[in-house]
Amino acid sequence: MPFVLVILGRQGSGKGTQAALLAERYGVIHVSTGDMLRAAVAAGTELGLRAKAVMDAGDLVGDDIMIGIVDERLSGDDIQAHGVLLDGFPRTTAQADALAETLEGSGPDLAINLDVPIAEVTQRMLARGRGDDTTEAIDRRLALYEAETAPLLEWFEGRECLAVVNGLGTEEEVFARLTKVIDGL
Ligand code: AP5
Ligand code: MG
Repeated sequence: MPFVLVILGRQGSGKGTQAALLAERYGVIHVSTGDMLRAAVAAGTELGLRAKAVMDAGDLVGDDIMIGIVDERLSGDDIQAHGVLLDGFPRTTAQADALAETLEGSGPDLAINLDVPIAEVTQRMLARGRGDDTTEAIDRRLALYEAETAPLLEWFEGRECLAVVNGLGTEEEVFARLTKVIDGL
């Protein structure tokens, strides 16, 4: 099995920003399910057509679809050779269970929760202004995070692979905290 690192955290906590830096530092492949879905929307594929309305509303794309997409991506030669940094997956217990099955029963090598309070992530998303960064969709995404994704922290804790990193501060400060945890492995 390749090296598997998961980055968790509220919407707007900086997962994508930090994942790009970490992938460069450690030579692992950055897989963002949000980026994959946005690429599908831009390309007008069947998946993109189905996902667009769901994403615009801030809802979650179905587990079956997401598990299928990620499973296929994880089998790629680049990931088998270099390892993977998962950003935006898993987001539900069903997705986490499916990932464990793909990893032959084990959890990832490390899951990092990038911890940023709701008020700060809301400001960051409103300042970013992506298509799904409307007030309504942000509220919906953050509510779904608490209901569906936050329980995963316990899931990872139970597999003794969870680390919590403070995501407040400059990008450089957060990056330094993350590399300290990863280098400690
Ligand atoms: P996704 O693309 O994953 O969006 P998200 O969860 O809303 O998270 P973001 O990408 O908005 O936040 P981020 O943590 O990456 O922060 P970023 O680095 O951009 O998913 C989009 C949609 O796709 C979902 O709503 C869902 O519909 C669907 N989807 C995806 N995966 C799915 C799955 N597994 N199952 C079901 N559905 C799925 O940073 C945010 C902003 O803050 C940026 O402007 C950045 O420049 C800024 N920033 C970053 N770091 C700092 C800092 N230290 N200080 C100040 N500002 C900072
Ligand atoms: Mg992102």
